[in-house]
Amino acid sequence: MHVSHLSLLAFTASQAAAVTLWATSYGDSGLGYGGVTSLNLDQSATGAYTLTATAFLNGTSSCGDQSSWLTKDSYNDVIYCVDEAWGLANGSITSLKPSANGSLVLFDKETTLASPVATVVYNGGAALVAAHYDTSAVTTWSILPSGGLKAMQVFQYKLTKPGAVPDRQDAPHEHEVILDPTGSFIVVPDLGADLLRIFAINKSTSMLSESSTYSVPAGTGPRHGTFLNTGNATYLFIIAELANTITSYSVAYTATGLSLTQVFISGAYGINVTIPAGAGAAEAILSPDHKYLLTSERHAASFQIANFDPKNSTKIPSDALIAWNIDPLTGKLSNAQRAPAGGMNPRQFSVNKAGTLVAVGLQDDGRVVIIERRGDGSFGDIVASVVVHGSPTSVIWDE
Ligand SMILES: *[C@@H]1O[C@H](CO)[C@@H](O)[C@H](O)[C@H]1NC(C)=O
Ligand SMILES: *[C@@H]1O[C@H](CO)[C@@H](O)[C@H](O)[C@H]1NC(C)=O
Ligand SMILES: *[C@@H]1O[C@H](CO)[C@@H](O)[C@H](O)[C@H]1NC(C)=O
Ligand SMILES: *[C@@H]1O[C@H](CO)[C@@H](O)[C@H](O)[C@H]1NC(C)=O
Ligand SMILES: *[C@@H]1O[C@H](CO)[C@@H](O)[C@H](O)[C@H]1NC(C)=O
Ligand SMILES: *[C@@H]1O[C@H](CO)[C@@H](O)[C@H](O)[C@H]1NC(C)=O
Ligand SMILES: *[C@@H]1O[C@H](CO)[C@@H](O)[C@H](O)[C@H]1NC(C)=O
Repeated sequence: MHVSHLSLLAFTASQAAAVTLWATSYGDSGLGYGGVTSLNLDQSATGAYTLTATAFLNGTSSCGDQSSWLTKDSYNDVIYCVDEAWGLANGSITSLKPSANGSLVLFDKETTLASPVATVVYNGGAALVAAHYDTSAVTTWSILPSGGLKAMQVFQYKLTKPGAVPDRQDAPHEHEVILDPTGSFIVVPDLGADLLRIFAINKSTSMLSESSTYSVPAGTGPRHGTFLNTGNATYLFIIAELANTITSYSVAYTATGLSLTQVFISGAYGINVTIPAGAGAAEAILSPDHKYLLTSERHAASFQIANFDPKNSTKIPSDALIAWNIDPLTGKLSNAQRAPAGGMNPRQFSVNKAGTLVAVGLQDDGRVVIIERRGDGSFGDIVASVVVHGSPTSVIWDE
């Protein structure tokens, strides 16, 4: 009886721990085709994790060879994937249906302006909005009952002259689409124009209208961000790729839109942490318990970590993930931790719902790693890894 009780526990633990993730990748001559990889993360009764690639759809059979971003639409049970399509006239947004075993089935593919790099579902699953980097645009799509898309709006921008960093600010570059906590506004960081573009959502039509713009200092290059609602206050955190800064704004809801007031700014790698030469800050997300802001650096090689080949004693370079404490009363950040990201170029990463594991796509290494998060919110060990096709650009959890 004792034995069967134990084995039942072990069975339940291992069943509960298995989870699907999906990763997009760019095609890379050295690292193989781009596309979408299905991953399975399993935990054995002893606690050991195994990350396995269970299916791969190449770009032709999924969302193109420059797949840059995935969005899970829980309202419609669809995964949206965008193709940045470098060098091609147009990009695409692909709708994929998840199967029970984690594989994905393509059922809709819409041609878009080139260079979509991020999407978010809004208005309770009625619509999707995309940021287009090279084509300086924001496009909106209504989500059909099937989960397929129908084009709605195109907002396309121009600069009258290049920005303070001319080689990167030759044109407006829309980099992400961020839904506010009330579901009423979309904020679009524009890396090229040094703007946060704010759009209001019409909840009866899902149409966006331009509400206002917020200017950041010349040469900042805002890239990604996230909101936090504490119950008493709303904050917006924006990471900037060109100036390598992290900024907190206090957000006020006015009769006409959103009003932002800067309450904190620091170098993106920690307060008083020198910005490594050549670095380009990338991702900024909230921990599920809303206590920490988690960000990533790129091209900095701040750490040397153990080789993933246990027979190889040569260490490999790793960029950092950075954890920041959030003061919920002020929106200010303070240093919590800098930890290895598991390799080079963590363009994007995501945390599981429980807040216990982080999945990181290492674009330069062709690898996805899982890092544990400890009870105190700090990053712990790399607990699993897998080499995928191409250069991983995003990885999300099926939760
Ligand atoms: C992509 O995948 C499809 C379907 O599996 C296959 O027919 C095709 O040959 C693949 N293309 C390349 C370039 O590997
Ligand atoms: C996963 O499910 C899909 C759809 O049901 C099926 O086509 C595919 O063969 C399955 N893959 C595996 C590895 O079982
Ligand atoms: C494809 O790209 C061209 C310009 O490169 C643009 O005019 C056209 O609207 C795009 N097609 C779609 C469906 O967005
Ligand atoms: C939303 O769109 C509808 C239809 O165009 C319009 O009647 C309504 O005034 C709009 N609502 C807002 C808040 O702008
Ligand atoms: C909200 O503000 C009240 C009064 O200042 C404070 O007691 C409470 O802790 C705050 N709650 C949060 C979640 O910040
Ligand atoms: C950063 O440096 C300033 C100036 O030396 C110092 O006053 C401050 O305490 C430092 N803060 C941290 C978090 O290291
Ligand atoms: C050991 O790892 C280093 C760094 O990744 C690599 O350059 C080297 O080729 C590897 N050696 C062997 C024998 O695999």
